[in-house]
Amino acid sequence: MQPSLTRIRDRFDIVEVPLIDGKPTLGAEVAAGLRGSPKSLPSKLLYDDVGSALFDAITRLPEYYLTRAESEILRESGWEIVRALDGPVALLELGSGSAVKTRILIEEALRAQRQVRYSPIDISADALRASSHALVESYHDLAITAYAGDYFDVLGSGMLQRDGRTLAMLMGSNIGNYEPGAAARLMRLLAGALRPGDGLLLGSDLKKDAATLERAYDDAIGLTAAFERNAIARLNREFGGGTDPRAFAHLARYDAQRGSVDSFLVAQHDLRLELAEIGVYADVACGERIHVESSYKFSDAQIAQLGSAAGLERVRTWHDRLAQFSVDLFVRR
Ligand code: AVJ
Repeated sequence: MQPSLTRIRDRFDIVEVPLIDGKPTLGAEVAAGLRGSPKSLPSKLLYDDVGSALFDAITRLPEYYLTRAESEILRESGWEIVRALDGPVALLELGSGSAVKTRILIEEALRAQRQVRYSPIDISADALRASSHALVESYHDLAITAYAGDYFDVLGSGMLQRDGRTLAMLMGSNIGNYEPGAAARLMRLLAGALRPGDGLLLGSDLKKDAATLERAYDDAIGLTAAFERNAIARLNREFGGGTDPRAFAHLARYDAQRGSVDSFLVAQHDLRLELAEIGVYADVACGERIHVESSYKFSDAQIAQLGSAAGLERVRTWHDRLAQFSVDLFVRR
């Protein structure tokens, strides 16, 4: 990195990574999910502009302890985290990095070293531009190379450029939204993008009583319900549907067997989900559930296992004071 990179446009760069050929489109995934039994929708439907704003609000709810617990860990131990590898480190984050927790780690890294390179990966180029712009304005010694694309596509593309030690970050229990096979694949891909001595910082929500978990995903003022119903609004908008999102209630259930809080849309009367543009005409019975999202919860042993299955060694674990959430550092040997 050059000394005194003061001009903002010199400190921000975005690489757009093309979709891998032959991957199903969102419409094809929606159609397949609604033809399945039980019915499901892909959880990525939740994260359009409205959904991202609603999720941001969810992170401030009293019931949604995850973000507060993770931030507490980073505030308490961020200084230790950024010094745990022989630095200086460059940060690579899966996610667009608009959040408070990213700022905590960037600030800690800037205390430990003169300059920092931060590389967020996110599906939305707009979100990346907005969050990156704010970050380079805040920190003069920060340079950003952002990658717009699907995590799997970007990590598999060979387009990631890294100089020196990398500390990769997969925070917010985002790993919990992947079914176990996909989570293992993502961990392997991430590990493959690291070099010996590089690290991965993983934020995971810990298993706990069902009541606390279900409250976190079914809050009293109905923000999470609105977040889930937005999937229907988005289907209407993108695929020519006309279903009233209010025809569905939101349900969050902890399945202790799988260790997942599952979020469902539950039809409040018989209806037909018509999405003419993708040829979907799905009859949904009153009371029928459409699975929209899994949020897996982990034991300490499962967290270590997520890393070791990908060839990563766990070297440190941090918990918040109530031990609700875990932040773990893995190293590629
Ligand atoms: C995407 C992992 C941050 O599963 O806890 C929050 C998404 N869904 N409330 C989670 C979510 C409903 C969230 N993460």
